[in-house]
Amino acid sequence: VIRWGICGTGRIAAKFAADLRRVPGATLAAAGSRTTGAAEEFGRRFGVPRTHGSYAGLAADDSVDVVYVATPQSRHRDDTLLFLAEGKAVLCEKPFAMDAAQGAAMVAAARAAGLFLMEAMWMRFLPVHVELRRLLRAGVIGTPHVLAADFGYRVAPGTPHRLLDPALGGGSLLDLGVYPVALALSLLGPPDRVAALDDRGQDGVDGQTGVLLGHPGGALAVLYSSILGRTPSGASITGSAGRIDIDPPCHASTGLTVHTAAGTSRVDLPYEGAGLHFEAAEVVDCLRAGRPESPAMPLADTLAVLGTLDRIRSGAGNADRSEQEPVRSGTSR
Ligand SMILES: NC(=O)c1ccc[n+]([C@@H]2O[C@H](COP(=O)([O-])OP(=O)(O)OC[C@H]3O[C@@H](n4cnc5c(N)ncnc54)[C@H](OP(=O)(O)O)[C@@H]3O)[C@@H](O)[C@H]2O)c1
Repeated sequence: VIRWGICGTGRIAAKFAADLRRVPGATLAAAGSRTTGAAEEFGRRFGVPRTHGSYAGLAADDSVDVVYVATPQSRHRDDTLLFLAEGKAVLCEKPFAMDAAQGAAMVAAARAAGLFLMEAMWMRFLPVHVELRRLLRAGVIGTPHVLAADFGYRVAPGTPHRLLDPALGGGSLLDLGVYPVALALSLLGPPDRVAALDDRGQDGVDGQTGVLLGHPGGALAVLYSSILGRTPSGASITGSAGRIDIDPPCHASTGLTVHTAAGTSRVDLPYEGAGLHFEAAEVVDCLRAGRPESPAMPLADTLAVLGTLDRIRSGAGNADRSEQEPVRSGTSR
């Protein structure tokens, strides 16, 4: 049995604790929080045998094989390094780190220690996304040419929220945009061209970011993220012989539609729970097989996503701002 510890007791930690019950060969052995009260409360809620009022306490717990890091992204590097230093394997929430340099430090530490490390990009393990990649490999829509994807929901400006706090790695791109960007790279490979625009949000974080990626071979990805409003949050990939529309929300999708000259067909792959058990099962399989990383979610892919996010942010920040009046479209009198 693979014995899990959970670091942080927030929203996603609770969903993960519930979903872990669906994973054969896994047990939730311990939970760690910054405060004893939150750790004990989480422990009662999910029947966790051992709780710790500090992350260091969890790191030192010998009853734990692997830690799920479920803290805000501003902490992912340091929390991951803490658990690796104590000999624990780590599954770290997305976005894996604040930037590629932090991500590289985490990967280097895991490799130096010979410990398993994976980004918790759970979308990748959902049955619909596995099927999507199979359909593309099988050439069902021919050569993929353009991916359109977005993810957004509203976080009211000025309210206390992790996504509005720059110190916690807030903003739409890092937290929500990471999904469409990760989807683009997983389907089309790392981009060779990156263009982006964002707003300069009033809370000091990006309210929305628009991204255009050019991939080797010429395929394009047209992506955006937002915390200003609820966007369609779907994805659609068009190829020379057809199109696949992924049911929204893409990051938690349970179905897709394939359009080709032969007609339209549906694939429905519902799942139980929140869907976090697929990634957890992958970690359990890898640990049992003694693999240092997941072949399905390699660290090189995680670092490529972080590098792309870096390029998006620097591109958006340096976007050309004309000194002239904005160009007005339509008729003017
Ligand atoms: N896979 C997904 O679907 C999904 C969904 C949402 C979020 N996420 C990712 O998971 C991470 C956590 O998101 P969440 O929505 O669960 O956040 P959350 O509800 O705010 O919980 C974060 C937890 O991290 C701990 N923490 C440590 N330092 C903190 C600080 N300075 N401020 C606030 N919390 C701090 C807290 O636990 P203690 O008080 O117990 O220490 C807190 O409960 C983020 O990286 C996010 O992008 C993933």
